Amino acid sequence: MKKFLAMLLFALMLTTTARAAEFEMVEYSAQVKLQWLAAAGIPEAKKFLKLINRPVFFNADNLNDFKRIELTNALYQELNYAAAIEYVRKNDYHNVFDMACSLSPRAMILGEDGRKVVVGELQTVCLIGDWCLEEFGSKNAIKNVEYKAFWLQDKQGMMESAKNFKGEICIIEQGVSIYLTKDALAQMFENIRDLLKKNGGCLITSDFTQKKYFHDVAAALYGENQAPTIYAETKAMYEKVYDDKISDDYLQNEQEAMDFLKTHGLIARKVPLFTSTPKLNIYSKLTPEQIQNVNALARKNYLWVITAL
Ligand SMILES: C[S@@+](CC[C@H](N)C(=O)[O-])C[C@H]1O[C@@H](n2cnc3c(N)ncnc32)[C@H](O)[C@@H]1O
Repeated sequence: MKKFLAMLLFALMLTTTARAAEFEMVEYSAQVKLQWLAAAGIPEAKKFLKLINRPVFFNADNLNDFKRIELTNALYQELNYAAAIEYVRKNDYHNVFDMACSLSPRAMILGEDGRKVVVGELQTVCLIGDWCLEEFGSKNAIKNVEYKAFWLQDKQGMMESAKNFKGEICIIEQGVSIYLTKDALAQMFENIRDLLKKNGGCLITSDFTQKKYFHDVAAALYGENQAPTIYAETKAMYEKVYDDKISDDYLQNEQEAMDFLKTHGLIARKVPLFTSTPKLNIYSKLTPEQIQNVNALARKNYLWVITAL
């Protein structure tokens, strides 16, 4: 009995340590994302930042070329944020599973619409998310949005968190693939396939075009010549936050990604980010030429709609 208790305690300590370490690296990326969305002018992101009240990581004093990095990342994040909202609304999904989106301004908006939204995140992010909901969520958002803690590679956790969805769901996942090991990523897609088979619906993501897409966002603002530098600087910045190297080449080749999805019982079609010209908050900070470039970008097929085979 004593031996069993000692083993249990040891297992618990390991889980706790792993979770703490995982949060440490991701908490920062979650916060940086809010920093960019706030810089784009998203009011909900500003509210989250105000409430969590932590020092802003990156600014002109500690990052070379801060202005260009900030504007590019702010645009990239707002495009993702707004494209997912548009997709859900256009297709009128009543159920939204926002996975690994950290503290989610998007969930507030979609919950406010009256849609049921589950935000799937790590435990610590969920605790802060619940607190933010209580503090500044509207009545509708509080009623419809829930943070649920599970690891993306944990099938039971994912299925359990989705069990109250009735009917088709739109799963949103953005920007987490590069942080997962190949095994964890494969398991995440297996779990998503099972969920889509059970409920119907789709997963939307731009993870499989992330590298080209981000490059094109930088080019829309500062021209083709500058885009590789801005990409490299942004990658270095995230590696600093993450405190490790980021492998951003895996599954960035379209055929390779389609084959990967097929082996996991999934199929993708590519659709434009927006079906009509978007109205973005960040436009107030852009020149007319930059806005024109962004509008052209908005019609490109960076969004993958993935369904179960
Ligand atoms: C870089 S952020 C991605 C944020 C957002 N999706 C975006 O568009 O930028 C990564 C988020 O994924 C969460 N995350 C990372 N690994 C995870 C895992 N194995 N299971 C669940 N969530 C995870 C982190 O807590 C973090 O908020």
